[in-house]
Amino acid sequence: MSLQFAYWVPNVSGGLVISKLAQRTGWSFEDNARYAKLAEEAGFDYALLQTRFIASYGAENQLEAITLASALAAVTSKLKLIAAVLPGLWQPGPVAKVITTLDQISRGRAAVNIVSGWFKGEFHGFGEPWLDHNERYRRSEEFIRVLKQLWTQDETDFRGDFYRINGAPHKPKPYVVPPVFQGGNSAAAREMAARVSDWYFMNGNTVEGFRAQIEDVTRLAAAHGRKLKFGANAFVIVRDTEEEARQALRDIIAHADPEAVEGFRSQVQFAGQASPEREGMWANSNFDDLVQYNDGFKTGLIGTPAQVADKIMQLKSIGVDLVLAGFLHYEEDIQAFGEKVLPLVRAKEAELLEAASR
Ligand SMILES: Cc1cc2nc3c(=O)[nH]c(=O)nc-3n(C[C@H](O)[C@H](O)[C@H](O)COP(=O)(O)O)c2cc1C
Repeated sequence: MSLQFAYWVPNVSGGLVISKLAQRTGWSFEDNARYAKLAEEAGFDYALLQTRFIASYGAENQLEAITLASALAAVTSKLKLIAAVLPGLWQPGPVAKVITTLDQISRGRAAVNIVSGWFKGEFHGFGEPWLDHNERYRRSEEFIRVLKQLWTQDETDFRGDFYRINGAPHKPKPYVVPPVFQGGNSAAAREMAARVSDWYFMNGNTVEGFRAQIEDVTRLAAAHGRKLKFGANAFVIVRDTEEEARQALRDIIAHADPEAVEGFRSQVQFAGQASPEREGMWANSNFDDLVQYNDGFKTGLIGTPAQVADKIMQLKSIGVDLVLAGFLHYEEDIQAFGEKVLPLVRAKEAELLEAASR
């Protein structure tokens, strides 16, 4: 299977880095409609819309993920739309219906990213209880089970600790049962993925770090007779020379907004350390890493087109199925990725196929 590519939809203001460096990236519907069309043309398979309801890490303005996904569905024809959903602020019955509606509008291009949350302020702000780390995952697992039952069964009955569904019908059924993505690094996240998710998203990491997670989650899933796919996050900086790309990274970090980065750090590291084994996402991230709020610099897709394509092939070789990319200047960086990097990746994949068939 050829490697798939997703891009982060900038549906919050401030772009994908916590930096005051001028970015040519907007967050409005109009900007995002333009980026989605460009991404589709450039060869991206998926767009990931993040969920955020209250400003954090400086992202003052936020557009809601599922609503924006529906609007992007109407202006694209191939791009699959992964809308993030935060259990605890939403109920699974209505979400199943909303995502089925996205599937209908897009004719089978809907997907969800079930996030279990790290931002207590959001729950506090809206007056919802903030559960402890592993309880959040127990709730997310029930949420996913309810979604899948509603999407595939005539009537759903469900008796859980968090949700009860009483013979609820769900029509129409989606054209394509929406794939369930999820993120996380903690043991609870991995175990939930093994049991119920279709895709496991990973924060940026080293090749070794990705490999260890892929092996572990694959083993956990096998115990349930399941096989998952893996998505790896990366902040991508492609320039004509390696030095230009490295300088762009140094500029982003030099203009980091220290107050916002520290605020983000205290929130996420508190949430990650709340997992019993203290190995949640961001547990080992330093200040520079956190300037990209999903550890995207760590993956190292920073350099010339050839260097970035080589690194992507290395990710493929360890079992990564999808690269999730964030950019600095969306319009030009998406196009450059499509023109300069993707053809190299596709050529290398074709070489591999040919070598395998010899
Ligand atoms: C690719 C990816 C996307 C995510 N998107 C969101 C998001 O949109 N909103 C959010 O609040 N958290 C998001 N998260 C964070 C997760 O909800 C969760 O808090 C995080 O994975 C920490 O999990 P852990 O402590 O179990 O390791 C995302 C995580 C990943 C890996």
